[in-house]
Amino acid sequence: MSLFVTFEGPEGGGKSTQIRRIAQRLEDLGHTTLVTREPGGTAFGEAVREILLGFSHAAMLPETEALLNSASRCQHVAEVIAPALKAGKIVLCDRYLDSTLAYQGAGRGLDLDTLVALQQFATGGLWPDLTLLFDVSYDVGQARRATSGEPLNRFDTDTQAFHERVRSYFLKAAAREPRRWRILDASATADQVEHDALLVLLQRLNEEAGAVKKDNRS
Ligand code: TYD
Repeated sequence: MSLFVTFEGPEGGGKSTQIRRIAQRLEDLGHTTLVTREPGGTAFGEAVREILLGFSHAAMLPETEALLNSASRCQHVAEVIAPALKAGKIVLCDRYLDSTLAYQGAGRGLDLDTLVALQQFATGGLWPDLTLLFDVSYDVGQARRATSGEPLNRFDTDTQAFHERVRSYFLKAAAREPRRWRILDASATADQVEHDALLVLLQRLNEEAGAVKKDNRS
């Protein structure tokens, strides 16, 4: 059964670790998963990622950031995500369109309605079935980032105020659309967060399986 799940949140929430752990747990339970990320996920997207996250283009405009992330996403949906869903896989994607709304919208101040329309255009209207918000405060996120050994990227040089706007956008979006979003306390231990995330996913898979059965009966 296919399901499109996105992992979102501020920096240092441990999404990348969790996505690998969750995929493994789902595979152990007999599901077929595909793990991917944004910006990236295709050869084109990974090239765009280098431009977006590297330090060679400091003069990049917010609009350019939004367009590049959306171009990467467009290619990603067509080449990777849509075919995997069609093949019945559970797609786990590390960041997706909500990151553009949070970072380029709330963070950089671009118009949200325009960005939503751009997402519609880039994805052909493919919104996630479920979005897990790995919520963590700025201080905890920064401390984790410092010890993670991951290379710094261009967004690490943004101010605390920028990152606070991103976080509060995610929390507001989750509150507005509770069916799609689940908020996880990502300041807990990695084992606890994995447990919480897996529980949410298994519940949703159960509901979807129930809905399919009901459809087949009617
Ligand atoms: P990454 O190293 O993947 O960060 P993280 O581990 O926190 O997910 O870098 C992705 C960065 O790109 C992150 O700072 C968020 C940013 N981003 C945007 O600004 N807009 C977008 O649409 C996406 C997908 C990411």
